[in-house]
Amino acid sequence: MAAALGRWPLGLALCCLLGASLAVDRGNFKTCEQSGFCRRQRRIQPGNSPYRALLESLELGPDVARMRLVNEATQVPLLLELWGLSGNVTRLRIQELNPLQPRYQVPDVLLGEPPAERLEVTGRDEGTLELALGPGGHRLLVTERPFRLDLLRHRELLCSVNARGLLVFEHQRRRRDSLADKVSSVWDKIKSLFRRDPPKDPPGEEGAAQEGPEDGAGSTQSEKPAEPPAEPEEEPGAWEETFKTHTDSKPYGPTSVGLDFSLPGFEHVYGIPEHAESLRLRPTEGGDPYRLYNLDVFQYEVFTPMALYGSVPLLLAHRPRLSLGLFWLNAAETWVDIGSNTAGKTLFGKLLDYMQGGGETPQTEVRWMSESGVIDVFLLLGPGPADVTAQYGRLTGTQALPPLFSLGYHQSRWNYQDEADVEAVERGFEEHELPLDVIWLDIEHADGKRYFTWDPSKFPNPRGMLERLAARKRRMVSIVDPHIKVDGGYRVHSELRARGLYVKTKDGNDYEGWCWPGSSAYPDFTNPEMREWWANMFAYDQYEGSTEALFTWNDMNEPSVFSGPEVTMHKDARHFGGWEHRELHNIYGLYVHKATAEGQIRRSGGRLRPFVLSRAFFAGSQRYGAVWTGDNTADWEHLRISIPMCLSFGLAGLAFCGADVGGFFQNPGPELQVRWYQAGAFQPFFRARTWTRRGASPWLLSPEHLAMVRAALRRRYALLPVWYTAFYRCHRQGIPVMRPLWMEFPDDPQTFAMDDQYLIDRVLLVHPVTEPDALGVNVYLPGEGEVWYNDETHEQHRAPQTLYVPVTLSTIPVFQRGGTVIPRQDRPRRSTEAMRNDPFTLYVALSPQGTAQGDLYLDDGVSFDYATKNAFLHRHFSFANGTLTSSSADPRGSMSSPAWLERVVILGVGRPDSALLTTHDGSQTPLQFQHDPARSVLTLRRPGVPIGADWSISLR
Ligand code: NOJ
Repeated sequence: MAAALGRWPLGLALCCLLGASLAVDRGNFKTCEQSGFCRRQRRIQPGNSPYRALLESLELGPDVARMRLVNEATQVPLLLELWGLSGNVTRLRIQELNPLQPRYQVPDVLLGEPPAERLEVTGRDEGTLELALGPGGHRLLVTERPFRLDLLRHRELLCSVNARGLLVFEHQRRRRDSLADKVSSVWDKIKSLFRRDPPKDPPGEEGAAQEGPEDGAGSTQSEKPAEPPAEPEEEPGAWEETFKTHTDSKPYGPTSVGLDFSLPGFEHVYGIPEHAESLRLRPTEGGDPYRLYNLDVFQYEVFTPMALYGSVPLLLAHRPRLSLGLFWLNAAETWVDIGSNTAGKTLFGKLLDYMQGGGETPQTEVRWMSESGVIDVFLLLGPGPADVTAQYGRLTGTQALPPLFSLGYHQSRWNYQDEADVEAVERGFEEHELPLDVIWLDIEHADGKRYFTWDPSKFPNPRGMLERLAARKRRMVSIVDPHIKVDGGYRVHSELRARGLYVKTKDGNDYEGWCWPGSSAYPDFTNPEMREWWANMFAYDQYEGSTEALFTWNDMNEPSVFSGPEVTMHKDARHFGGWEHRELHNIYGLYVHKATAEGQIRRSGGRLRPFVLSRAFFAGSQRYGAVWTGDNTADWEHLRISIPMCLSFGLAGLAFCGADVGGFFQNPGPELQVRWYQAGAFQPFFRARTWTRRGASPWLLSPEHLAMVRAALRRRYALLPVWYTAFYRCHRQGIPVMRPLWMEFPDDPQTFAMDDQYLIDRVLLVHPVTEPDALGVNVYLPGEGEVWYNDETHEQHRAPQTLYVPVTLSTIPVFQRGGTVIPRQDRPRRSTEAMRNDPFTLYVALSPQGTAQGDLYLDDGVSFDYATKNAFLHRHFSFANGTLTSSSADPRGSMSSPAWLERVVILGVGRPDSALLTTHDGSQTPLQFQHDPARSVLTLRRPGVPIGADWSISLR
């Protein structure tokens, strides 16, 4: 524990003072070899699967196919279920047919049972069965021995399952620790020496460490062997596992699951956040698999497969003309191996090679390994990248539409001392004319780190402070962590203890660990009653001093336990329903986030949208708010990695992502700080955050550097209409806001492994400068026959090409795609709320064909009225044949807005003789304009029409 405590904050202070370089203490976290089930599963070699599909056991329901699988080495039967879900999704679930105990099936992630299509048997021969899955032309071939699935669309093989034979399902058994068991085990061994027909090599220590069914619970009568097969030694650690000073009691023994997926034709896979990794995942052969286990990793490093704070078990694969997703719905510790071998291909893979002319087509192998639970997998069959993200969105929900203010700039440091400090920071923003929406308070604002309270000497009048901020159209976020100070005088603690709502130890006592407040207990957020209680704490009369202007930050919700194994909770701790923590570790943080977001909604009587930032996450967390990449470091590597990290979050549904601007640990130099502001201004969640004083206040920079920060902030605010519209699209359709180029240019392999540039929506291409002393950057402009316009100079560039863009420290290379229209609000203001009714400028960037399309979404920015009362405005802009038209994009929208159209800038157009505005009542007005022939830019002055009206402007 001392080591764990030493890291914070004294260790940090020393480190920063001495300017020492930061490095994670890898010894605190397990490698695969140190994680019993990962070690056991990884030792299993491909090609020896003991599983057989009992084809004759097929039962075809109206929408599900069920059949039994059997492990031939142990005779333990499993149940396989297959669904063809509407919208091109296939689900497969494997569980024990007769488990000793129920196995954990992850609740609260799926939006509901997705509707299923009709299944039909379309072919059968000895050893295979063919099922048609709904109308999409998808077929599943089930092979009997060894069990394998091949999923085809028409004649194209999309994916094979267990083709390498790495299916593992460690069935539950009783511990053989009695004397009788020991005798029987010795007897089994003796018998095995004399067996005439010894069983095949076991699939690995674990898969083979079997007991015969003791009471019929583990098998059906028909498959019961004449005599139980021999039982090899249990691997040490199977029933108890020790890491450093911590022993995991594992009362149910080994219960891991695993499965392999072969993806023919794919060389590029993405997703499975959170890792500080390139966007394209790397093969894991020769190293550790990618780990998904929510952990508080102090001073994390980049380019490692180590686990971080959150986990989304969704992997995407992409190649020209096809994208797929694998969603592995399991909340236990999980490892994912990625292989790029061509050896060991399926028969179909080899056939594909043959049909495509003999050369080897690439193939990616993916192997999932989880410590417990069941196998529940959704194969998202695209075919396009946006289809995959939409399919995932339909299963787990899309990004909650953020309140508009939260897309503005957030100012944060650890720590703002008191009310006067907050006041001074805000004044700094006013004086230096820097826009700002939110100021953040860290743990010291609370009385002795008792969350939901205020330190009475430092924050004697929180309500007054919040009201002052609100009067200047700004908000505040306070931290509310899920560890509760063990203190009988603290109401939160005494109530939770009295109501029995804490997580329990394996012996049934309240689980206690060490965290910021000292000895802390952990609310059991998996219990609906706990979530209800927590949500009610956000009522204004419960969270005293809070107002509508106060929002929340859930930190440390992995959960972080300084004194626990790997800085988290013991796996044998107990949750609601008796479940062990090991079953649900990765979803704990989601529940904290969910309860907090629900609390914020409830405090307003269901009227207002919440804003909650969470450090830990799981599949579905996007429904509750924003996430960030945790405690990064003020160095160039961490600036660079923020791009692929947020891209990968976005692919996994978590569109509202950001990284601490400036870097959390250590001091950024002025150049890095400026570059980080420029990059952060073009990432979805834009929060400067640092531990140091210097990083915290931009005005401590030189006037030149401060001017650059101001320019970056203003650029962010001018583009807020683009961000908000993109978030609305994401909320409706599940398409990320910040997206990799290949999502929009799916057939261009040049875009498949890019970490340094990306798109916002489909309209802006951003290539932040992330190298020191940069004189220029190479920007790849994709799209055969397309054009791109430099967002600042309006210079036009043909695509595809790699363009060298010379840069100074004030340059942010951003390009608008030809053929798009973007709305901007160019007047500098102090906050998003202050610019709500400001006039708009439309930037119309013409395609080589002289056309463009775009849209603008607006609502009140704060409430759910857009959903419940259609109180929104969605406009469509289109330019064709010299006429720009504004029409309704969604006639349901009933909101009107006082905002008006101030200017139209058309890029890539010649000088017209006239520009005529026609309004909805047919009246016509000539517009004044100015044309820049050198850059082909036409600026139309003051059309003056309401932004929500129908109108057109014709150039003649
Ligand atoms: C860890 C968070 O990641 C960091 O941002 C915060 O300052 C500390 N916890 C203290 O609350």
